[in-house]
Amino acid sequence: MKMTLVSLTVVFVLASFATLGYASDPSPLQDFCVAVKDADAAVFVNGKICKNPELVVAEDFIYRGLNKPGNTSNPIGSRVTPVNVNQLPGLNTLGISAVRIDYAPNGLNPPHTHPRATEILVVLEGTLYVGFVTSNPANPAIKNKLFAKYLYPGDVFVFPEGLIHFQFNVGKTNAVAFAGLSSQNPGVITVANAVFGSDPPINPAVLTKAFQVEKNVIDYLQAQFWWNID
Ligand SMILES: *[C@@H]1O[C@H](CO)[C@@H](O)[C@H](O)[C@H]1NC(C)=O
Repeated sequence: MKMTLVSLTVVFVLASFATLGYASDPSPLQDFCVAVKDADAAVFVNGKICKNPELVVAEDFIYRGLNKPGNTSNPIGSRVTPVNVNQLPGLNTLGISAVRIDYAPNGLNPPHTHPRATEILVVLEGTLYVGFVTSNPANPAIKNKLFAKYLYPGDVFVFPEGLIHFQFNVGKTNAVAFAGLSSQNPGVITVANAVFGSDPPINPAVLTKAFQVEKNVIDYLQAQFWWNID
């Protein structure tokens, strides 16, 4: 009898641990989702509201036009054409999306992160210098590490989820790449735009301390127009 109780307790405790993995909240699919009491004011259900399956049509699963180059006539010289849940509704809840990236000669996809996705990039044309930087190491004596490569047509490179990365066209011709991202809504945080171009601006006292420079440097950077390529 006593043995049975002990066995039961062991089984129960093990079962509790086994279910722990399934008891956690789902990962967010957008920057935030503030709770509302009035259902009419609701927009997201951690992603998008689902269409009635009986009303779903083939058009819900197609996006056309990624064969067309993006317009790179801007100060950064690149253009991202996204195909995420906002362009292709069938991607909702599927955890995947795509982009086309065009680069003029000297064009840059500036340092940015995708808070919700790993990115796998395939170069079709041109020569890109790409890289990503690790998050802060546990040992404060060690710097964040850069992993960078020159990429040529046919090369595939992966940017791990959340890490700051970039691509720079170092060739004399246009460059084209396609990428898959492990989220229906990867999000983009362009470092310079977020830090120096926010609305309202971050108090310059914060940035002079953070970057250890004089206030006129921060004033200059905050006065720039931070172009957004996607
Ligand atoms: C590309 O963008 C530039 C600047 O916005 C614009 O002047 C030009 O007409 C665009 N080109 C095409 C082909 O859309």
